[in-house]
Amino acid sequence: MNSKTRLDKLLGSLGYCSRKEVAELLRDGIITHTENLPLKSDTKVSHEHILFEGEPLDPPVGIVILMHKPVGYVCSHDDGEGRLVYDLLPERWRRRDPKISTVGRLDKDTSGLLLLTDDGALLHRLTSPKHHVPKCYEATLDRPLKGDEEAIFASGTLMLNGEKSPCLPAKLTVIDDTHARLEITEGRYHQVRRMFAAVGNHVVSLHRSSFGDLTLGDLKAGGYRVIKYF
Ligand code: URA
Repeated sequence: MNSKTRLDKLLGSLGYCSRKEVAELLRDGIITHTENLPLKSDTKVSHEHILFEGEPLDPPVGIVILMHKPVGYVCSHDDGEGRLVYDLLPERWRRRDPKISTVGRLDKDTSGLLLLTDDGALLHRLTSPKHHVPKCYEATLDRPLKGDEEAIFASGTLMLNGEKSPCLPAKLTVIDDTHARLEITEGRYHQVRRMFAAVGNHVVSLHRSSFGDLTLGDLKAGGYRVIKYF
């Protein structure tokens, strides 16, 4: 990011401190300039020129994070809901403004690739029903597949309980009797579990292996990396 921002605004937006605290942190030498230029709270600075405790700043606003969500974590900002996916990120990132949010949600019991961002326009684009990003899920099933599921899911006629329109065509790849990969382009509530329920089966475990062209690579459960999305 080459644009210049007031120092206090920059540090406040990244969650380092309140805007008022900047003057004191400057006096204490906690905030410095890479080229030792003098700084005041209202100095216009470039993100890459500022050090906090001698370290480069966290990624600027517009951050995109690829996380390997573990089972047991919830895609919510509400502390009352148990362990949150945000708990897996640095504590300071919770205080960023704009806030980091998940791109859609994975259930508490689902693991796999989860994107998070503070970019509202990107979030809107990727979660809009018009934007059909293909997402792959690896499902373990309670009962053996019957053989007609691939055609039913591909038909574009499958109705889910309580919904007014059928699911868009989805691609099922059978791995064995009780394991399958399902590629969907929508993001309805509990969609994969409900699709299997609609054909008389039950998902025992679910893992998202890809989102568009993105995959987890060797990222371990609970890990994340900051990515360039475009
Ligand atoms: N479908 C589900 O059932 N659960 C998820 O978390 C994502 C898709």
